[in-house]
Amino acid sequence: MLPGISPATAATTSATKKDPFTLGVASGDPLPDGVVLWTRLAPDPLAPLGGMDRRTYSVQWEIAADERFSRVVKRGTAKAEPEYGHSVHVDVRGLQPARDYYYRFRTGGFVSPAARTKTAPAPEQLLPSMTFAVASCQAIWEGWFTAHRDLAARHHDVVLFLGDYIYEFGNDRGVRPGDDDPLRTRQTVTLDEYRQRYAYYKTDPDLQAAHHTAPWIAVLDDHEVVDNWADRYAGSTPPDDFLVRRANAFRAYWENMPLRAPQFPAGPDMQLYRRLRYGRLAEFSMLDTRQYRDDQVNGDGIKAPNAATADPTRSILGFPQERWLLDGLTASRSTWNVLGHQTAITLLDTVSGPGVAVPMDAWDGYSASRDRLLGGIDERGIQNVVSLAGDLHRTVVSDLALDFTDPDSKVVATEFVGTSISSAQDGEDLDAGGRVLLEENPHMKFGNFQRGYISCEITPDLWTSEFRVCDRVTVPDGTVSTRTKLAVESGAAAVQQV
Ligand SMILES: [Fe+2]
Repeated sequence: MLPGISPATAATTSATKKDPFTLGVASGDPLPDGVVLWTRLAPDPLAPLGGMDRRTYSVQWEIAADERFSRVVKRGTAKAEPEYGHSVHVDVRGLQPARDYYYRFRTGGFVSPAARTKTAPAPEQLLPSMTFAVASCQAIWEGWFTAHRDLAARHHDVVLFLGDYIYEFGNDRGVRPGDDDPLRTRQTVTLDEYRQRYAYYKTDPDLQAAHHTAPWIAVLDDHEVVDNWADRYAGSTPPDDFLVRRANAFRAYWENMPLRAPQFPAGPDMQLYRRLRYGRLAEFSMLDTRQYRDDQVNGDGIKAPNAATADPTRSILGFPQERWLLDGLTASRSTWNVLGHQTAITLLDTVSGPGVAVPMDAWDGYSASRDRLLGGIDERGIQNVVSLAGDLHRTVVSDLALDFTDPDSKVVATEFVGTSISSAQDGEDLDAGGRVLLEENPHMKFGNFQRGYISCEITPDLWTSEFRVCDRVTVPDGTVSTRTKLAVESGAAAVQQV
C-alpha cells in the first residue's frame, strides 16, 4: 500500500524514546479542498534510518482553522513505515478554499512543531491578489539559509521550489561547523545516503521555518540525483547502473517532500510534471526537464550552438510533456500562466564580443523545444506566460522573444530566473559573468549575482517580482534587502521597472 493512503487503523504503536520531530513538518501541493501534510520521524537525524528501528509507528495528525488548535477541522492517524524512511504523507481533503490552516503531528507523547498552510482558491474564484516565493539551489556547505529566514517571515500563499534542494556530491570545505563530517563529505549513491543528506539539510532551522510558514510546490533538478543527469545518462555511468541510483534518489526525494501519492516513484520513474490551479488568477505548470530529455550534445558544458542543439528530433521535455504543456496553456482560464521549472529558457550567450557560446544543459542546448514552446504560445495566442526557473545561481530576467537574434522580434513571454539560496557563496551585485550576459543578450533586462529568492505578488492586472538579496551567506547573521522590483502588466509580456 502506498503511504499517504494509509488507513486510520492497523498501525503498530511504539513510542520513540527521543523527540522524533527533528526534521520539522511541511505541507504541499495545495488544492481548493486539500493539502498534503508531511513529516518524517528521525530522533537521530544523521544516523541510519534517522535513528529509528524497523517497526511501523502510528502518528496522529490534526489540522485546525486557528493557530491555537481550538477549532480542529480534521484529524486522523497515519503510518510511519521503515520502508519509506518513517515518512508520513497525509492527503487531507474536505477543507475550505483560500484559507489559512494550522497542523501538527504527535506520536509517543511527542508533539511536532505547529505550522501554517493555505489551500488554493476555488476553481472559479478570482482572487484580488496572491503572493508566492521562488527559490532554488541550497548547497548547505556554501552558505547559511538566511534567505529562507526572510522568506518565512513573509508568509506567502505558496513557495515554489525549483530544484537542487540537496547536493549529491561531497564537500569538506564548508562554511558551517562540522562540515568535515564523513556523512556530509561523501557522494550520495545509496538510498540510506540520500536519506541522510536530506536529514542533514532538514535540520536547518531556517529551512524548517520556510516549510512551517507556507505550503510548497516542489520539483527537482539535477543535484537531487547527480550533476547534469539526462534521462538514463549521467557521465560515464552505464545507464542500467544509473537507473538504480536514480531510483534511490527519487525514493528519498519523495520521502522528504510534501508530495501526493501520484508522485510516488515506481523505481526510477516519477510523475513530477503536474499542474496546480489558483482559480482564475494563476495556473502553475510544474515541469520536469530532466527525466525525459535527450542527452546533452557537444559534450555538455558551454559551447557554440550548432545543428545538434537545433535538432528538431531532440527535446528537453520529451514530446508528451511538450504537448501536455502547450495544450494545458491553451485550455487555461486563468490570468497568469506560470511555468515552474529548472533551467533557463532564454538565450544565454556567455561570450564577450563576436561568437556565441551557450549552456548545453539549458534550453539553449535544445533550441527546437524552445522554438516549439514560444512559437506555440504565439500561434495559439496564449497570454501572460511567465517562466520561473533556477539552476544558474544568479538572477536573470529576460523578455522571451520568438527570435533572440532579432531585436525587433515579438516578445511572447517573460522569464524570471531566480538566484540560489546559498549555492556559490556570497557573490556580488554584478560579477564579470553577469556583465557579459547583460551586454551580449539584449533581451536580458536585469541581472544580479547575490544569493536570495524572488517574492512575487500578482493581481489580475499586474505581476510584481521583488528580488530579495543577502549581503552575505558565509556568515550566519547576514541581512536581506530588496535589490529591485520588476513588473509585467497583464497582456504585455515585456518586463518593466516598477
Ligand atoms: Fe544548483
